[in-house]
Amino acid sequence: MAAMKGFFVMLALALVFAGVSRPSFAYERPPARKNLFVPLAKDLGPDSPQQVHISLAGQDKMRITWITDNSTPATVKYGTSSGVYDSSASGSVSSYKYVWYESGEIHDVVIGPLKPNNVYYYRCGLDSSPEFSFKTAPAEFPIKFAVSGDLGQTDWTSSTLDHIEKSNYDVLLLPGDLSYADLNQPLWDSFGRLVEPLASKRPWMVTQGNHEIEKIPLIHKQPFTAYNARWRMPYEQSGSDSNLYYSFEVAGVHVIMLGSYTDFDPNSTQYIWLQTDLKNVDRSRTPWLIVLIHAPWYNSNHAHQGETESVDMKKDMEDLLYQARVDVVFAGHIHAYERFIRVYKDQADNCGPVYINIGDGGNREGLATDYIEPQPKISVFREASFGHGELEVVNATHAQWSWHRNDDDEAVLGDLIWLTSLPSDPNCRV
Ligand SMILES: *[C@@H]1O[C@H](CO)[C@@H](O)[C@H](O)[C@H]1NC(C)=O
Ligand SMILES: *[C@@H]1O[C@H](CO)[C@@H](O)[C@H](O)[C@H]1NC(C)=O
Ligand SMILES: [Fe+2]
Repeated sequence: MAAMKGFFVMLALALVFAGVSRPSFAYERPPARKNLFVPLAKDLGPDSPQQVHISLAGQDKMRITWITDNSTPATVKYGTSSGVYDSSASGSVSSYKYVWYESGEIHDVVIGPLKPNNVYYYRCGLDSSPEFSFKTAPAEFPIKFAVSGDLGQTDWTSSTLDHIEKSNYDVLLLPGDLSYADLNQPLWDSFGRLVEPLASKRPWMVTQGNHEIEKIPLIHKQPFTAYNARWRMPYEQSGSDSNLYYSFEVAGVHVIMLGSYTDFDPNSTQYIWLQTDLKNVDRSRTPWLIVLIHAPWYNSNHAHQGETESVDMKKDMEDLLYQARVDVVFAGHIHAYERFIRVYKDQADNCGPVYINIGDGGNREGLATDYIEPQPKISVFREASFGHGELEVVNATHAQWSWHRNDDDEAVLGDLIWLTSLPSDPNCRV
């Protein structure tokens, strides 16, 4: 009996080692996984700040967001030395109802002015709360963005987050589909707790996906209730009237977050706002111009082909982005990675944006593995694996884009390319 047990242990070890040493080209696509178990709020205590996350809120300001079960002050104390809080700011508290669910108290405090590229220590609410810390983004190049869409909250998500944490990024860009709560509101809370270790340390800048809509006919008519309440972005600062589309500038990069699931036709407030925002971009101040959407305009995966959010939004807005010489458009929605060359109206065009689909964060729906064959000429890299992207903007003209596959627990480099900004190309002057 013991010998049998020993044999099976040896066999299991042999399989583990075979797995570790297997060559990367033999990577087997993992199946979807169930949601992770993330501790319930009450384990942390009703006064304890939870789901802490931060976001850029103007040139030298940071928004701190957190939730408590009990009523606690919307105050943040902060400073540049641990335990020494020589500054303090107050903000607002809100909550929302969703069918029979009632959210905790959502605290929202904007702090600053802050110095660039500095570590700040902060405490939310009561003096008994634990200390958190974050690093502000640099004021100048280089700056590194982590990019990851369609995250969810599975074991795969957890791998992706581990890899992103190790990437030494400055700002995270998320092109939609965050929690996959899908009406089940406590899953927004567990998602908040899952991402807190990262999102409390670096600004997370997000836009919405279809999983954020959460409308129920007759019962809950207001779309984006949880998303807007929990993930407030700096839309007022960019002259937008909606949390669903906005822009911000950081270290010489102008980033525009668009909403695939709100009006985008030429009469819409989003379209008119986008026109104005693009007009105000000054490429001598921000040589790089990046756009994020959820539903991709270019996609050679069978998943989500022909959806209006993709087809009509592209028809309505592609000209605007092309004429403004947008450098890169990131999208999510497709649970796989795909990179296109510079494109305009389905044709290769040296002055068009590079389109990148990065919806492979690791949600429970699993991978989109079914591709249109043959691969279109404008699509140069596609792979249905979970992973994340990194955009390191080195200077005004050069940036390096890399995609890292989750080879289970290892981040393995899959795709790497140098990009040059469009204003630096004499044929593509704005
Ligand atoms: C925009 O509004 C004008 C005037 O109200 C109307 O004629 C036109 O059809 C609208 N266009 C779209 C795309 O909705
Ligand atoms: C920008 O970075 C690239 C890549 O490292 C380098 O080759 C180039 O010389 C840099 N440009 C300037 C103006 O420093
Ligand atoms: Fe989606």
